[in-house]
Amino acid sequence: MTNPLKIAIAGLGTVGVGVIKILQEHRNMIAARTGRVIEITAVSASNRSRDRGIDISGYDWVDNVLDFANRDDVEIVVELIGGSDGVARELAQKSLASGKSFVTANKALIAHHGAELAQNAQDNDVALGFEGAVAGGIPILKSIGEGLAANKLTKVYGILNGTTNYILTQMEAKGKDYGEILEETKLLGYLEADPSLDLDGIDAGHKLAILSSVAFGVKTNFDNVYMEGIRRIKLVDIEYARELGYRIKLLGISSLSEAGLEQRVHPCMVPKTAPIAIVDDGFNAIVVDGDYIDRTFYEGRGAGEGPTASAVVADIIDIARGHTGPAFFVPPSEMLDAKAISISDRVGPYYIRLHVEEQPGVIADITAALRDEDVSLHIMLQKGSEQDGTVYVVMVTHDTHEKRIMNALSQIDSLSSVIDKPLAIRIENL
Ligand code: HSE
Repeated sequence: MTNPLKIAIAGLGTVGVGVIKILQEHRNMIAARTGRVIEITAVSASNRSRDRGIDISGYDWVDNVLDFANRDDVEIVVELIGGSDGVARELAQKSLASGKSFVTANKALIAHHGAELAQNAQDNDVALGFEGAVAGGIPILKSIGEGLAANKLTKVYGILNGTTNYILTQMEAKGKDYGEILEETKLLGYLEADPSLDLDGIDAGHKLAILSSVAFGVKTNFDNVYMEGIRRIKLVDIEYARELGYRIKLLGISSLSEAGLEQRVHPCMVPKTAPIAIVDDGFNAIVVDGDYIDRTFYEGRGAGEGPTASAVVADIIDIARGHTGPAFFVPPSEMLDAKAISISDRVGPYYIRLHVEEQPGVIADITAALRDEDVSLHIMLQKGSEQDGTVYVVMVTHDTHEKRIMNALSQIDSLSSVIDKPLAIRIENL
């Protein structure tokens, strides 16, 4: 057995504790698999005295995490603090610059600064690992970057946020509206400290930007990810989706073509028989299409102590084995600047839900707006009348340009008979 691999851990929240548990419990097994004992030399967190249910008395406690970068007895710095900037970014820059490998589960950090950090890692001949940043326990980055490396990949999409998948699943299962299920989900502690990261699709956007880079060898470009969350989905949409043969899922979709790179996160209606449609609750799932593999499908727990810690430790194990290739599986100098395709260029079918006054002429006004934008209807439903003299009108269009749908909806929104802002959900026949 060669010399131990010494690591320092910054952040002892859920994932940090999980990493320590795995390294303590599987110490001998990992040593046998890698030929090196993984030794934790130092740890740091905001609160020293909190009972975390693990024994950390054998590790040096460090008040300032940035000190990790200067220690000779640290070969890998493991960052589990979070945040795209601030101390996490500074720790990454300083650690890499002082010749230490850096492992993180920080999706925001990598989505915003991945290209720069990958370059820093290469310049200093050390590793940068972030398997834990995308889809928790699903080893999706290694699967794409190593297992599918022989393929030209064309499309990657999936359920990348467990919290919103849980909310949508529970709305359908319990027949309750969004607000009620959101409150229940908050009580379970599932939401990020800033709930907007989950609810507005930002967390999924971070993960999608990373996935795009690994899948297509493009520079990480979070600014070009279109994001729309689940806040406007009502129970009525979920019920109509079921009736129309669909389920609603918040998907991240990325594809690279001659036209450029498309990256978008938004609620989708997917055929209820599609494998991704039956991935429920807190689970994540990812589909990868490539020229020689056709299609591959991955499912697993996307968050939580065990799954995310498993991915973080896998990166440490890679380094222990000496497997330290480029962070995005392609040298930084080879990463492409892909032209961004705007969401307004999407073409496909749309589900439209309108909440309107039950009065003569409403449908004529709505269909006139659709006609003016050349939008052709496939299905139109209006069931009964609400007690309060209002009604939901639901339509499914044929393939249409996003721009035309949005123009028509803004015209419809200005009608006095329309009560709520119209909602469009993109239908993806995956
Ligand atoms: N908030 C994230 C989710 C946690 O719900 O998937 C894992 O990244």
